[in-house]
Amino acid sequence: MSIFHDKRILLGVSGSIAAYKSADLASKLTQAGAHVDVILTPGAEKFITPLTFQSVTGRRAYTDADLWGGEAHVLHVGLADQADLLVIAPCTAHTLAKLAHGLADSLLTITALAYRGPLVLAPAMDGGMYEAPATQANLETLRKRGAVVIGPAEGHLASGLVGKGRMVEPAEILGHLRLVLGRNGPLAGRSVLVTAGGTQEPLDPVRVLTNRSSGKQGYALAQAALDAGAQVTLISAPTALTPPVGARLIPVETAQQMLQAVLTELPSTDVLLMAAAVADFRPQQAASEKIKKPSRTPDAPASLIVLETTEDILGTVARARSETKRPLVVVGFAAESQNLIENALEKLHSKQIDLIVANDITAPDAGFNVDTNRVTLLAADGTQESLPLMSKAEVAEIIIKRVLALLET
Ligand code: CTP
Repeated sequence: MSIFHDKRILLGVSGSIAAYKSADLASKLTQAGAHVDVILTPGAEKFITPLTFQSVTGRRAYTDADLWGGEAHVLHVGLADQADLLVIAPCTAHTLAKLAHGLADSLLTITALAYRGPLVLAPAMDGGMYEAPATQANLETLRKRGAVVIGPAEGHLASGLVGKGRMVEPAEILGHLRLVLGRNGPLAGRSVLVTAGGTQEPLDPVRVLTNRSSGKQGYALAQAALDAGAQVTLISAPTALTPPVGARLIPVETAQQMLQAVLTELPSTDVLLMAAAVADFRPQQAASEKIKKPSRTPDAPASLIVLETTEDILGTVARARSETKRPLVVVGFAAESQNLIENALEKLHSKQIDLIVANDITAPDAGFNVDTNRVTLLAADGTQESLPLMSKAEVAEIIIKRVLALLET
C-alpha cells in the first residue's frame, strides 16, 4: 500500500505561474491514495481556479471566500488539525515572508500558523527575489523551525531570465513528501544498501556484455526502504530509471566496480538487498580499440572473445560477515529459468544469506523489464512464502516487512 494511502495532505497554493503545476501535484497525490485539501491564496486564484483542484482531488478546494463563511471560525483549525502534512507549492516570496513572521491574513497563512505538523515548502519566484537577503533570511528562519525547503530549481523563469527560482517538478516534490512522511518509520536510524540493474562488462570502447535487468525491482526496494525511514544507498548499474528522492546514488558499470562499492559501504550497512543482476563472466581483456569486422581486414581471424569469471559479491560479503557480523540482514535474488525453488535454495545456502527472492523469468508478467513480479521468498530458517502476481512496489514492501522481522530476531 502506498505511503500516501489515507493520508490527509493539505496543499497550499500561492500566487505564482507555477500554480498550474500544483494541479498535477494534487492529481498525483490523489492517485497515490491521499485525501488532498487545497487552499488557494487570493494571488493563486488569479492563476488557477478552485474548480481545477476540485476536479482532480474530488474534494472541495478552499479560498479566502471561506474565511468569512458560516464555519469560518473553525475551518482553519479543522484543516490544520486533520492534516498529516502541509505542503505549500508554489510558495511565493511573499508567502514565505508571512510564514517566517507569523502573519495571518489569509486562510492559508492562518491555517499554517495554527498547524503543528511537518511543513514542506516549494518556493517559486524570480531569481532576484529569491536571492534577496530578506528572502534568504526568511528561508533560514523557516528551515531552523524545521520546515523542509525543496528547491527552487534553476532554469527558464517567467521573467524571461534564466536562474534559480523555478518550482521543483511535481514528481520530485512527491518524492520529498514521501521522504517526510516516512522519516519516523520502523527503519529510521537503519542503513540499507541496495544494488540494482544489470552490470556492463566492456568488450571494447563501444560494446558491452550485459543482461536484461531493468533495475525496477531494485529501485522499488530502495523506495520502500526510504518509505520505512531508512538511510538508503543505491549502488546502480546503468538503468533508464530516476533514483528515488532521498537515496544516495553510487553509479557503477562493471561487476568489479559494484563489488568495490559494496565492500566500501559494508562497514556502515545494516541491511544489504542484492537485487542487481551481476555479470558472472567478463571479457578477459577489453580491447582498447573498436573491434573491426573481419571483412574490413580480410586476413584477420574472426574475433574470439575469451571470458573469465567475475567475483561473487554475495560470497565475498558472506566471508566478511562471518567476522564482522555485518550486515545484520542480507537478502539475495535468484532469477531462474528452470528448477526455481531447487536453484534458489542452493543459492540461499551457498551464499549464506538470510532470505532469497526467487522469480521465474520465463513468465511474461514477472521478471525483467515489466512492472509486475511473482516471487517466492525462501528464508534461511526453512520457511517458504509464494506471493501472487503483484507490482514490484508491492513485492518491495513485503520484502521490507520481512527485513524488519529479521532485524527483530
Ligand atoms: N550475485 C553476486 N555476485 C555475482 C553474481 C550474482 O552477488 N557475481 C548475486 C545477485 O545479485 C543475486 C544472487 O547473487 O542476489 C543470485 O544471482 P544469480 O545471477 O541468480 O546467481 P549466480 O550466483 O550468478 O548463479 P547462476 O548464474 O549460475 O544462476
